[in-house]
Amino acid sequence: MSAHGPERKMTAHAGGPLNGIAHVPGDKSISHRALILGAMAVGETRITGLLEGADVLDTAKAMAAFGADVTQHGEGDWSVHGVGVGGFAEPEDVIDCGNSGTGVRLIMGAMSTTPITATFTGDASLRSRPMGRITDPLALFGCRAVGRAGGRLPMTLVGAVDPLSVDYTTPMASAQVKSAVLLAGLNAPGQTVVTERAATRDHTERMLRGFGAEVVTEKVEDGWRITLTGQPELVPQTIAVPRDPSSAAFPVCAALIVPGSDVLVPNIGLNPSRAGLYTTLKEMGADLTFENEREEGGEPVADLRARFSPDLLGIEVPAERAPSMIDEYPILSVVAAFAEGITHMPGVHELRVKESDRIDAMAVGLRACGVEVEESDDSFTVHGRGPGGVRGGAMAAARLDHRIAMSFLICGMAAKRPVTVDDASPIATSFPIFEDLMTGLGAQMTQDD
Ligand code: S3P
Repeated sequence: MSAHGPERKMTAHAGGPLNGIAHVPGDKSISHRALILGAMAVGETRITGLLEGADVLDTAKAMAAFGADVTQHGEGDWSVHGVGVGGFAEPEDVIDCGNSGTGVRLIMGAMSTTPITATFTGDASLRSRPMGRITDPLALFGCRAVGRAGGRLPMTLVGAVDPLSVDYTTPMASAQVKSAVLLAGLNAPGQTVVTERAATRDHTERMLRGFGAEVVTEKVEDGWRITLTGQPELVPQTIAVPRDPSSAAFPVCAALIVPGSDVLVPNIGLNPSRAGLYTTLKEMGADLTFENEREEGGEPVADLRARFSPDLLGIEVPAERAPSMIDEYPILSVVAAFAEGITHMPGVHELRVKESDRIDAMAVGLRACGVEVEESDDSFTVHGRGPGGVRGGAMAAARLDHRIAMSFLICGMAAKRPVTVDDASPIATSFPIFEDLMTGLGAQMTQDD
């Protein structure tokens, strides 16, 4: 039994081509932020297209525990009656964020400048992940934190009584750290400044502006400086969540490597701070087109069309692109295995502290499938075996990581022999309809006892 329900061993087999339209769920990053910012505005925020994956549902529960009124009206259709900036009530019980680093880190930021105490925990994966990267900057506001060794959950935060404003430079490229500081800054007087050396996803800044906060982003010599004016009155919003480019990556990449495929993935958010995978796939020679490009709710959106691409070539993925595709390296490494030549992916140390150590998880699983992979502390290299050239015939460990589980199932759809994932249950954290969606396109997947 994992935190996501009973363990489910699943096997993907090569079958016919993948064809059809794939409606992937709402964006996970935007869904978390919609609930949290809705809870910090006074009045009703209405959200459509919310991702109803376990990660986001845990954030919804947490917002209710902090005093917001969170209601589901229909599929993806939610409202949040917020309590205002500084209005969070003290939760009566431990906040369980399940598998979600984004959930726990953003919520910690949001509560850290309100004089309440909250204790956070999560599943075995989340309890192994570092929280010092969040509690260090939150301490500058006056928030105290006590957790397990190495800054791990469970952890109790005592929010600042008289929060100070903060000027902080993030030591690693992390939208979660940047966002936690900005959310903390909402209830601090004066201006909170965050500088990041590499631009990471900017949903928090865009959405804060949408909720009426003053947020200014400037290019500075050593990166980007974001300045938030504290103690705004956030105005409730109507939010249509775009569909998740990180989830779209799975049917898109599957179509590129399964012979004869042609798949349309409509309404995908293509914020440039998220779209690095698609640039990379084009550079590899993918037959991928962006149709009906438009803007919705302040985010660029397009329909993605992916067709089988027999001429994929390995490439050098620029290290500076990593923040814009950080969640996509597992599935990219699968595509790289079906390309000709070598794909080198440098500058990806952050992958070691995701839901699992994703460099190690992919290297071990791909090697078991007959693919040569080299790794260093902050890079990995996949030696492509060409179209149809991956042997498969292996069992990969998902390590409580949804993206590892989905990546190996996609691998099994194009490999010579089936690929089994020891536990597919974590897929429900971000992509609860993955199995139905992929089998609807023609994929062959079986659940093993
Ligand atoms: C996220 C930021 C990224 C990403 C995660 C979602 C966010 O994490 O990996 O899936 O919504 O802010 P880091 O901030 O650790 O890079």
